[in-house]
Amino acid sequence: MTVTKKEYILAVDVGTTSTRAILFDETAEAITTSQTEYDQIYPHPGWHEQRLDDLIGTVNACLEGVAEKLPGLGISKSDIPVISITNQRETACVWSRSTGKQLFNAIAWPDTRNTVTVRQLSYKSPKGLDALKEKTGLPLSTYFSGTKLRWMLDHIAEVQEAHEKDDLMFGTVESWVLWNLTGGLDGGLHYTDITNASRTMFMSLKELAWDKDCLEFFGVKESCLPKIVSNAEVYGKIKSGPFAGTPIAGMIGDQQAALVGNKCIELGSAKNTYGTGAFMLFNTGEEIVPSNYGLLTTTGYRAGPKATPVYALEGSIAVAGSSVKWLRDQMGLIQETTEINGLAEKVKDTGGMYFVPAFSGLFAPYWDDTAAGTVVGMTAYTNKSHMARATLEATCFQTRAILEAMAKDSKKRLQVLRVDGGMTNSDICMQLQADILGIEVERPVMRESTALGSAICAGVAMGLFGWDLSKPETLAKVNVTGKTTFKPENDEADRAKRWKGWEKAVSRARHWND
Ligand code: G3P
Repeated sequence: MTVTKKEYILAVDVGTTSTRAILFDETAEAITTSQTEYDQIYPHPGWHEQRLDDLIGTVNACLEGVAEKLPGLGISKSDIPVISITNQRETACVWSRSTGKQLFNAIAWPDTRNTVTVRQLSYKSPKGLDALKEKTGLPLSTYFSGTKLRWMLDHIAEVQEAHEKDDLMFGTVESWVLWNLTGGLDGGLHYTDITNASRTMFMSLKELAWDKDCLEFFGVKESCLPKIVSNAEVYGKIKSGPFAGTPIAGMIGDQQAALVGNKCIELGSAKNTYGTGAFMLFNTGEEIVPSNYGLLTTTGYRAGPKATPVYALEGSIAVAGSSVKWLRDQMGLIQETTEINGLAEKVKDTGGMYFVPAFSGLFAPYWDDTAAGTVVGMTAYTNKSHMARATLEATCFQTRAILEAMAKDSKKRLQVLRVDGGMTNSDICMQLQADILGIEVERPVMRESTALGSAICAGVAMGLFGWDLSKPETLAKVNVTGKTTFKPENDEADRAKRWKGWEKAVSRARHWND
């Protein structure tokens, strides 16, 4: 009898506030994990930076963390044939080709310092903010990494000089991590994948290549950009450390990874991930569907260099889980983020108050960088439980705004919303979500969909476990440990009344900084 060796995939997820490494088996059981937080730097209101050394430092720490646990689990490194990477997407990194050092801190995706840059860019085209929408699927916004790079070129002499001398290397977080893991100055690979590239505003969605017109529009040289690759191929091998020699495959932006990890690989399926922000992606298959209602058209995934690319419509919410952290860290309303649930449960509604946490302006479907955080409808009756509940509801209402836009753009109404991410641990939040949407909300037991999605891409690249993204049945055994379904418990009249209140609150938050 031949005993088949059990194989595992190690996924590294560089999120907005921490890095995690998760070891999966072929059923998507998370065998072990290692997590390290890193510093968030807020030099001015609206600014949000991270150190490049911290980003790669936490990746190395997590790899070491997992390596240390392997002997206790009876797993050897040779049982892990591949490592995958997934990441926070629009965070802009710049480093020097000659020294390998950062030229400036990474500008994190929620940062809005580039508001004026965006405005100036919009004046260059009669289409204004939609100048590059046809090619890139995106409106000009502070959110995307290209407008962040333009800000650095305009304001940071070292970056400008390196750009002129061809010493500049630009990339999003996965590029920086891959370059370092594959050797850095000693032959490191300067690659990005189609999902992260699709958030720069430099890539043509149709060609999946850097677009000359877009680069000219931004005044950016192609020489500083990484090579664009698919999501499921072997890029190279880890150069040093506990996993030296292990291939890296499966590099994909975190929200697209969650689409794959939630097995939304069929046309018309959708998921919402509630992390620092919340991001709903709707699989539009081979079709590039332009949005007329404030959504982004983006890449979904490409399961190999020759595979047919899959596209998606995306609704991005800038502030979701971070609003709960804000209640804890800035307001001192709670000591632990999970306390928000007990607090919100103490009241049956918000007493008519609404909180619009527009800390980075408002993303989809509003795209208003002049919006500011706003609380309305308070009375002397309002207490912290109402505020806690209103904070949870804010993410749910923004999700509804996106769902409405998706129904209009795709001409399909979702019957069930699949969810994952930190905030989905909250039962009350998911019940509020079902009530506010009026559809069922389905939460899997294993909710590490982001890391899992990149692991699946890596598995596809390596030919492991028979996985094939064009054949959903090949993922039949993946993550089937169960799910919880939240059903709407209110009626349409209640839903409509609360929605009207939210829309009014949003109108108060908008144009505050005009
Ligand atoms: O677009 C930003 C996104 O990639 C960050 O995701 O999970 O860190 O909120 P998350």
